[in-house]
Amino acid sequence: MLTWDDEVTPSPQRTHTPPASNSPSGVTASPSLAMHTPSPASASLAAAQASAHAQALAQAAVAPRSAHAGGRVSAADKRIINGQTDVNQLVPFKYKWAWEKYLATCANHWMPQEVNMSRDIATWKDPNGLSEDERRIVKRNLGFFVTADSLAANNIVLGTYRHITAPECRQFLLRQAFEEAIHTHAYQYIVESLGLDEGEIFNAYNEVASIRDKDQFLIPFIEAIMDPSFKTGTPENDQTLLKSLIVFACLMEGLFFYVGFTQILALGRQNKMTGAAEQYQYILRDESMHCNFGIDLINQLKLENPHLWTAEFKAEIKALFEKAVELEYRYAEDTMPRGVLGLNASMFKGYLRYIANRRATQIGLEALFPNEENPFPWMSEMIDLKKERNFFETRVIEYQSGGALSWD
Ligand SMILES: [Fe+2]
Ligand SMILES: [Fe+2]
Repeated sequence: MLTWDDEVTPSPQRTHTPPASNSPSGVTASPSLAMHTPSPASASLAAAQASAHAQALAQAAVAPRSAHAGGRVSAADKRIINGQTDVNQLVPFKYKWAWEKYLATCANHWMPQEVNMSRDIATWKDPNGLSEDERRIVKRNLGFFVTADSLAANNIVLGTYRHITAPECRQFLLRQAFEEAIHTHAYQYIVESLGLDEGEIFNAYNEVASIRDKDQFLIPFIEAIMDPSFKTGTPENDQTLLKSLIVFACLMEGLFFYVGFTQILALGRQNKMTGAAEQYQYILRDESMHCNFGIDLINQLKLENPHLWTAEFKAEIKALFEKAVELEYRYAEDTMPRGVLGLNASMFKGYLRYIANRRATQIGLEALFPNEENPFPWMSEMIDLKKERNFFETRVIEYQSGGALSWD
């Protein structure tokens, strides 16, 4: 039974010793991210892509892993990484939790342009519609998110996907990549609807320190697994991939999004910017599932490769959690120099520590900040929201039965 909260735990699977040799599936990353302008956050990633281009082209000649001599696929032989089974054969299922999450995300489909933004536009144009601090929150929020989901999508498509050898998990990642595109679309749609300065918003990850610092923290973990010469199959490289998965699921989707989500949803709770808030509500629900899937993937990978989970590795992960909490707190301070909407930066110190504890324990680490409580219980209600209900009651959505959709 799936739930929409972030309590989902992986189905226990047998622990496996990894095969001695590595034969990653042959889908090769195409280094075609569109971040060409040299800039603090994007220059190193763009440089890595450019230098890797020749290698990528060479590797593109390698045929995808497909037909295998010697019998049909056995579910028991499947592995999250370094698997030897044919990645083109979705069944027989082994990782049913991944397939069920794929189905659940499909049942949750939505598109940004279905949300009516007219009230938001009127509020934004009205000089008295929002305070300066509220406008700052909206612009900083979009400044982070308009590029964050492109980073997430590129990380999946050009990095994670080719290293995962379980086709059920690849199926989820394909859906997740499309959802990241929908999220980028949603943020762009809000920017366009409000008539914001696109240059200012889309360059915020280069120009606003609190946003740039978050992205610069993430980019090395994307670069590491996007490098076409990077292959799993050694303990060191498998740890590099595992670290990247943890950073993305637990710290990016599971932590770096939460100050921004809370702020916009707090605006919506005060009946301001309800169109944007509705979009963020759907995005939060998607991200909650991405985070849960990522945590299940991490835990399954750990089960199959227990030798990766060393004391040294855990200490490294703990330090990354602490750094991420610090960066997200700085972002909270920058976006809320004063109290606004009943929120203030210091409230987020406790919230971020509470979330970090949840993420840490979900992947088998001890809580980093014992005894923290959730100062925003209403956020849990938002995450738990059933898809049929729109919290802001601007409309009712129902996507469950794709064959019976009404497009009126
Ligand atoms: Fe996203
Ligand atoms: Fe996501």
